[in-house]
Amino acid sequence: MPDKIEKRIEELREKIRENDYKYYVLAEPSISDFEYDKLLKELEKLEAENPQLITPDSPTQRVGKDLTKEFKPVTHKVPMLSLANTYSEEELFDFDRKVRNGLPAGEKIEYVVEPKIDGASVSLNYVNGLLKTAATRGDGTVGEEITANVKTIKSVPLKLKKLKSYKYKLNDFEARGEIFMKIKDFLKLNKEREDLGEKLFANPRNSSAGTLKLQDPKVVAKRPLNIFLYMLISIEEEFEFQFENLKILKELGFNVNPEFKLCKNIDEVLKACRHLEEKRETLEYEIDGAVIKVNSIRQQGILGSIAKSPRWAVAFKFKAKQAFTTINKITWQVGRTGAVTPVAELEPVFLSGSTISRATLHNFDEIKRKDIREGDKVILEKGGDVIPKIVAVVLDERKKDSKPAKPPDNCPVCGARLYKPENEVAYYCENTECPAQIKGRLEHFAARGAMDIEGLGEALIDLFVEKEFLHTYADIFDLKKRQEELIAIERLGEKSVDNLLRSIEESKKQPFEKVLFALGIRYVGSGAARKLADHFLSLDSLMKASEEEISEVHEIGPSISKSVREFFSNDKNLKIIQRLKDHGLNFRAQKKSTVNSFFTNKTFVLTGTLLKFSREEAGEKIIALGGKVSSGVSKKTDYVLAGENAGSKLDKARSLDVQIITEEEFLKFLKEK
Ligand code: IVH
Repeated sequence: MPDKIEKRIEELREKIRENDYKYYVLAEPSISDFEYDKLLKELEKLEAENPQLITPDSPTQRVGKDLTKEFKPVTHKVPMLSLANTYSEEELFDFDRKVRNGLPAGEKIEYVVEPKIDGASVSLNYVNGLLKTAATRGDGTVGEEITANVKTIKSVPLKLKKLKSYKYKLNDFEARGEIFMKIKDFLKLNKEREDLGEKLFANPRNSSAGTLKLQDPKVVAKRPLNIFLYMLISIEEEFEFQFENLKILKELGFNVNPEFKLCKNIDEVLKACRHLEEKRETLEYEIDGAVIKVNSIRQQGILGSIAKSPRWAVAFKFKAKQAFTTINKITWQVGRTGAVTPVAELEPVFLSGSTISRATLHNFDEIKRKDIREGDKVILEKGGDVIPKIVAVVLDERKKDSKPAKPPDNCPVCGARLYKPENEVAYYCENTECPAQIKGRLEHFAARGAMDIEGLGEALIDLFVEKEFLHTYADIFDLKKRQEELIAIERLGEKSVDNLLRSIEESKKQPFEKVLFALGIRYVGSGAARKLADHFLSLDSLMKASEEEISEVHEIGPSISKSVREFFSNDKNLKIIQRLKDHGLNFRAQKKSTVNSFFTNKTFVLTGTLLKFSREEAGEKIIALGGKVSSGVSKKTDYVLAGENAGSKLDKARSLDVQIITEEEFLKFLKEK
């Protein structure tokens, strides 16, 4: 009897697996939903009656019950590299030339061209045919374990199909690929979120990456994630060809993108890339380019990699996507400095991963230059993460009665008169009490990089300004006196008020340079704030300094020094600052460590994309350890820290013989100090 049950359970699992494969990988379902549910119910029932027979690869085990409290680090056995980008035919031919130069003369070279899926990369480890772990790419060396979430994706097999003939040992291997969301599923998800008043995802890539980091696999299971696999990796086997590996992945039951092509030379590669670019519009998912890989794995080994990208593969990025849409209206937005910026309110249009309904027009000169008018049909362009921009007006389709746009005479928010300083392109609202300016100043003060007050975003600030809880940023620190009133606000509740008040208190620990930046003095960005803080060391001495003394600071120009002086000559500002002092904010720079470190008095130039932190963060670390950061490479530069895709600065460093360090070496120095 138990034997019979066991057999039936295995039979049901096999049928369900086969059906998942047909439905989610081949998109050719062979049984009805009703029949499928019947199989699943029967399996669930038998497993409930015989819990000792439940195995982790059973289709009933896709959705775990436990929350993932922390995503454990996973060290990749083989690093997960990223790709260098090319944007033109020339660059592609250049890649081919480098490949040929890197290989013994006369070798036949073939390439595989694949679509570059715009999602989140993962590595799946299979041991003896079963999914063991799934990990994110992380920094390429160490990723995070996201097995529970990945198991919920129906196109990820928990158990592999048996290969008819094993050419390779596949007892322990990794299949790498991209988790993505189809465009229509992404739009539907965002619509649902909009209806629930939740924050929208910017594009399908973010929604995939965000979903993979959710703590509850039950929520993940409801999100329509999908996967394409594109790499087969094993330390126990030497594979021969990428083209063959893709076929093996397919035979094992993985979802492999069907658009891959074997090319005999770079001309064929280029043709395949162009073909994919044309096809892009018709695909159900986002691709942002093509990936070109040397087919022979032996040749890949000879070519090796530099820093984090292989020499044997490259991405060919497609041109920015364009779309036509109509400008319904031109509105004017007031920022924290009072600058009034024109914004095109567009007929919503889907472009390169997101729906766009607004685009900044920068300033009135830009409108005049492109002669942009309300009602115009325009060409909108967006490349990758770049902000959408209006490239041109379709003049042929301009309405006869259209009139040139005009800047407003008065502030659209408070009605005050606008003025235009002679040497600037922007118009300004002259009323510093304008609600838009008040909100803008508060948002800037609380933002990341400034006071970093978690939870105090645009929506709450709007609400608090309307309720007259907040007027200046000093009022933020008095919010704790209104705890009861805050809890009474429907949207908030006790827990979120507690969290908010806690992060407000926490922000008082922000260092002086961040506080100085948060004050929002015109032209004082985070870099200038740091330089002023480093030089004057306290707010009191900066406040006492004359315009001349301020402009003597390295890289601080006359407009900054004038603006700083003006800010501290204003009585209202002085009163606010006094209140901030009373609240205990940091108006004094911490003493620099006097310990000598590797970084002491050395000048660094940072270039390219770093993986562990932003260039700004890396710069902060160097400065904190007594080093200096400069923007241009010269003979005086001690080190150039080169991240991915570093360009001209790296070339200059080479030509001047300046020492170049990788991010890894930099991390080592940081550890050793
Ligand atoms: S191959 C060394 N193939 O693009 C090879 N990557 O910057 C690296 N991607 O991190 C990966 N489609 O997330 C490869 N067909 C494809 C791809 C692909 C998308 C992503 C992947 C990778 C990034 C490269």
